Amino acid sequence: MNYDKIVLFESERIKLTKKVISKSYAKIILFGEHSVVYGQPAIALPLYSVDVHAEISLEPSGQTLSSRYYEGPIADMSNNLLGVKTLIDHILNELGKSSANFKMTITSQIPSERGMGSSAATAIAITRALYQYFDVPLNREKLLKEALIEEKITHGNPSGIDTATASSHFPIWFIKHKENAQITFNLADYNLVIADSGIKGKTADAVSLIARNMVDDSDNTKPLIDDLGRIATEAKRAIITGDGSKIGDLMYQSQQRLHDLGVSTPTLDKLVSTSKKAGALGAKLTGSGLGGCMIALTDSTTTAQRLATELRKAGATQTWIQSFKNYGFNGEKQNDNVVQ
Ligand code: MEV
Repeated sequence: MNYDKIVLFESERIKLTKKVISKSYAKIILFGEHSVVYGQPAIALPLYSVDVHAEISLEPSGQTLSSRYYEGPIADMSNNLLGVKTLIDHILNELGKSSANFKMTITSQIPSERGMGSSAATAIAITRALYQYFDVPLNREKLLKEALIEEKITHGNPSGIDTATASSHFPIWFIKHKENAQITFNLADYNLVIADSGIKGKTADAVSLIARNMVDDSDNTKPLIDDLGRIATEAKRAIITGDGSKIGDLMYQSQQRLHDLGVSTPTLDKLVSTSKKAGALGAKLTGSGLGGCMIALTDSTTTAQRLATELRKAGATQTWIQSFKNYGFNGEKQNDNVVQ
């Protein structure tokens, strides 16, 4: 009996059926979009109910991608998916697997170009899946570095907050190149209503609009950026102490600054004022603006449901309600930077 042969057959069988699935989340920026690009702090949270899955399975030949935007060989992906293609090629090359045969399937519930971090979550899920598929360990630092390859191509000058949140299991406090920490979130009785304005927001355009104004009109622009940082710092204290009315007030202040920076739109302004009238504690746009989504804070599920209905009547194309019940972070053992 040749036992070596049996062992070989068994490992081949495992290889042939090999399949991995990885996951990442949509992100919502509570405080600090745009100002985070200039070194100010920001607070963001993953949306557990809106996620992306990347599945990789063995194929007899070739490398193919199946997703809502593209179906076919990875080598033939068009330029509007250059970020994703470059990321996949880069990782395969780095892992010495450029000629491996596989099929990658991406399933996403995140609407694209709506400020919910669709591209960042896709980059995180792809990176995790490729490392898992080829059995290569991946720590958080490396994960974020890899995913930024895609974000730099898709968005130009990313702060890194989108990938940091999409890969986290907890709300985060983020300062570009400096801090990426979980924060205690004492808001179990509150809900966030998220509403899609139905208009695509181009992150790269919004980020370059502010970059231009930081140079051409810095006397007006810089104080707004600094003030958004001050608001995020105050909000962190209010989140830790569970002060919902303070957080709401800071959200309205933040919306005013983002409006003054030129990244709100008449539709987003309308959805914010609808929220105020319907009893939200606070409301603001989220993400890059110039379209995309807004968020509103409520202190009861009933108000959240009523508000979601009002927002749809006022033109929102889609709404989500996220309860903060399961957003507690309670200790080192759950640290995203340790556990992957
Ligand atoms: C986009 O989700 C958030 C921005 O602050 C850009 C960035 O931080 O990369 C507008």
